[in-house]
Amino acid sequence: MKKTLTYGQVGGSLHAFIGDVHRTGIAYDGRAFLAAGCFSRDEEKNRECAEFYGLSPDRVYGDYRAMAEAEGKREDGIDFVVVTTPNNAHYEISRAFLENGIHVMCEKPLCFTVEEAEDLARIAREKGLLFGVNYSYSGNVMVKEARELVKSGAIGEVVNVNAEYLQEYLVDDIGATNSALLKLSSWRKDPEIAGASNCVGDIGSHIEHTVAYITGLGLKRVAALTDTFGQPLDLNANILVEFENGAHGVYSCSQVCVGHMNGLTVRIFGTEGAIEWVQENPNILYYTPKGEPTRIYNRGMGYILPGAAKFSRLPSGHPEGLFTAFANIYKAWITAVLKTANGEELTEEDRDFPTVEDGVRGVKFIHACVESGKIDAKWVEV
Ligand SMILES: NC(=O)c1ccc[n+]([C@@H]2O[C@H](COP(=O)([O-])OP(=O)(O)OC[C@H]3O[C@@H](n4cnc5c(N)ncnc54)[C@H](O)[C@@H]3O)[C@@H](O)[C@H]2O)c1
Repeated sequence: MKKTLTYGQVGGSLHAFIGDVHRTGIAYDGRAFLAAGCFSRDEEKNRECAEFYGLSPDRVYGDYRAMAEAEGKREDGIDFVVVTTPNNAHYEISRAFLENGIHVMCEKPLCFTVEEAEDLARIAREKGLLFGVNYSYSGNVMVKEARELVKSGAIGEVVNVNAEYLQEYLVDDIGATNSALLKLSSWRKDPEIAGASNCVGDIGSHIEHTVAYITGLGLKRVAALTDTFGQPLDLNANILVEFENGAHGVYSCSQVCVGHMNGLTVRIFGTEGAIEWVQENPNILYYTPKGEPTRIYNRGMGYILPGAAKFSRLPSGHPEGLFTAFANIYKAWITAVLKTANGEELTEEDRDFPTVEDGVRGVKFIHACVESGKIDAKWVEV
């Protein structure tokens, strides 16, 4: 019986943003250990990261294909790979590891085209491999609490959704330069590396997944007004959405909203109540039963529903955040990989991580918004 796992990582050198958040999240529970990597195409950055983590030199690879093949053949090869490169490499890298029999956790957006996304889902299915897509906000305890509340019927039937993800970090691109702005990697603005969209792909995709995770509702169609401000890709999008139950909603995502750092806010309105979750204050969930004052739920308290409470790591009042959200995605993922390795059946609970099907839906959402944006916000099926 396996009790621990090893994993490898592609992308995510010490100079990168999200790679380290994955390593930290995985390390929380001490059940999976970094054993191999191709952290950068730059030899020096790759070596530097491998040395920092004390990897054996024979498991540091200059190329992800060589890594997938070698690790797939080794008796002690990695159990799963974490793909944290920019978007353009997700498809080829994920496919290479699947083809070598290795489970994959890939960053979002899953890949460039719907065909590629469906191809990855098909290969994973045919090979019996697990495939996660890191929509990290669904790892937050209070997002899980929101989902539990919706499932319990606390807000009745969903009738309206109002959600936004507002950032300001690209406002320089439409105005005067402000050196105080903290910049993410500029590849996000390059269609060759980011894909069909910048803003909708990078952050609108998180709205789509977080709402779907909480409500369990898929989208039927979208009508999107997108703004490029003369750039190759969108920096701003206002999107009308229609859910499969007929309800409507508004998603607003932007990288040019002065005063907003990482403002993901999700409001779900039902026939019997409403909930609101704000990413920058993630330990709180607002719940308003119809006709009653708004209740402020705190993570870590005894009234949090069991399906969410089991992911809480600190006593109430001690803030948890991005790292623990990643740790919670990996809590479910590592259990699923361990059980699969040990030939055990997975329960629905074990599958509480975003999957390749979520990734496929996300790519469809991005393309529907881009297409709608080109035809003056006419409705496009997702
Ligand atoms: N889930 C989230 O909350 C979240 C947050 C940020 C970024 N992301 C996603 O994570 C991915 C990476 O984003 P980032 O901000 O960390 O980018 P980044 O530019 O900071 O880092 C990318 C890393 O990948 C490496 N790399 C690029 N191509 C490679 C290749 N072929 N082989 C090996 N290494 C390679 C680069 O050297 C760098 O270390 C993107 O897909 C992005 O959308 C997700």
